[in-house]
Amino acid sequence: MKFLVDNADIQKIKEVYRIFPMDGVSTNPSILAASGRQPFDVLKEIREFIGEDSDLHVQVTGITADIMLQDAEKIRRELGKNTCVKIPVNEEGLVAIKELRKDSTARITATAIYTAMQAFLAAKAGANFAAPYVNRIDNLGANGIETAKKIQDIFEMNDFETEVLAASFKNSQQVLELCEYGIGAVTLAPDVIHGLIKNDAVSTAINAFNADFEKLCGKGKTMKDV
Ligand code: G3P
Repeated sequence: MKFLVDNADIQKIKEVYRIFPMDGVSTNPSILAASGRQPFDVLKEIREFIGEDSDLHVQVTGITADIMLQDAEKIRRELGKNTCVKIPVNEEGLVAIKELRKDSTARITATAIYTAMQAFLAAKAGANFAAPYVNRIDNLGANGIETAKKIQDIFEMNDFETEVLAASFKNSQQVLELCEYGIGAVTLAPDVIHGLIKNDAVSTAINAFNADFEKLCGKGKTMKDV
């Protein structure tokens, strides 16, 4: 399972990368707006940090397929070959996905997915990833985890190479359930990523080990000093 950071704050991205085994970065227009910076300034900074071989997912913003394709062209030109163009799955989005798929080198992430049918159609149209919004689906009174699992099953049953890139998470349990299911990728906000390993019991155990060692060898001593 690939792990992506869903954010455009370069300091937060660097801190997550320092600690966790990460595979890339995803953004959307709202995330870019939160940065308060010009989109391609911040995106180029992220690309430079993660390197040209890592996945960077960047969303088009147009309403028509034609504008989406123009956005896609600029995103790919400015941000390099491993940039996945995120296209929302409505009717115009499907037109754009089919058209962009004519270029076999294009990497396409179908996004704004709330139903398994959207994901099926996006995969059939040629998307490389499909991004169900787990927490937003839950907030509609449906089941985001079950939707993501169903999409994974549909892809397997239809021999699609499209991978699930689950997005919109609130907590570690949602992430773990998809780890157990072997989902292709998840993209997580920095606070959700830090929460994955936050555990008072672990901190207590580590502190007790260190205190016992200092009792034996002296304050501030570690194995390198003895
Ligand atoms: O990029 C789409 C998705 O990650 C949105 O997440 O937390 O805004 O529901 P969220």
